[in-house]
Amino acid sequence: MPHARHLLAIEGMHPPQITELLDVAEAYALLNRSGNAPRDLLRGKTLINLFFEDSTRTRTSFELAGKRIGADVINMAVSASSVSKGETLLDTAATLNAMQCDLLVVRHGQSGAPALLAQKVDASVINAGDGTHEHPTQALLDALTIRRRKGRLEGLIVAICGDIAHSRVARSNILLLSTLGARVRLIGPPTLIPAEIEQLGVTVFHSMEQGLPGTDIVMMLRLQRERMVSGLVPSAREFFRRYGLDHARLALAKPDALVMHPGPMNRGVEIDSAVADDPERSLIREQVEMGVAVRMAVLDLLSRGHSRNV
Ligand code: NCD
Repeated sequence: MPHARHLLAIEGMHPPQITELLDVAEAYALLNRSGNAPRDLLRGKTLINLFFEDSTRTRTSFELAGKRIGADVINMAVSASSVSKGETLLDTAATLNAMQCDLLVVRHGQSGAPALLAQKVDASVINAGDGTHEHPTQALLDALTIRRRKGRLEGLIVAICGDIAHSRVARSNILLLSTLGARVRLIGPPTLIPAEIEQLGVTVFHSMEQGLPGTDIVMMLRLQRERMVSGLVPSAREFFRRYGLDHARLALAKPDALVMHPGPMNRGVEIDSAVADDPERSLIREQVEMGVAVRMAVLDLLSRGHSRNV
């Protein structure tokens, strides 16, 4: 199979492509645990982390992934640099092009910004989250985490809960999970569920009591207040009372249901600490571990597909 040049979205990816990525990532997860990752694989290649929005775990995860397989990694602190001097995205692209980087990891507040950059630079572009559009590596790491624990994705029932409307994580997960044959439910207040989302093949519920029974995976999302117009949700306390996940609510799902959260968590708003930190039920730490493995796989596969100098 020819390898893609960029990773911009889950939309448009076919099951064999996703499965190949997960298989390579699974191998990296094992190599990471045994300390045997190929340290020279990306030697001589440069990765630039270009984050126009705050991020701790995603940026660090890409940095670690790149360094573990030998890339030179540079973090551009964008808000502190030329963007605050009025430089446009395309000026930034031209600058990066002149620097001849191989891999460009982009997070941006506007949907479509990484795709636009991809048209203007020679590097392989990886979308690390764009507006409310997509966050493909998050969906891939979530899928890998589920597959390792449950042995499969096909036929599982996954509930994605909370602030769906503002979540690129939800969108990428809906697309990936459905493509690989899982059934996706969305649970949240009507104000936080986009109209017509059912067209993506999901089932919508407005209460946890109705939506959780029978689920294998309960994926909680952060309430993204920074993206909200005011008035969409009542107080944090009221939100937790209706949509928060504690052990009593988790008991409504299947007895072996597992809990996920992409982070950063608002403890006590969408998830109770006792659930988030429960080693029997929570996959949150494993998600972070799989994040590094998935990003190593993405960097590896994109580098195979594209050499800047040819
Ligand atoms: C998410 C994001 O930025 O989209 N975080 C992440 O990448 N782990 C979700 C969020 O910010 O709530």
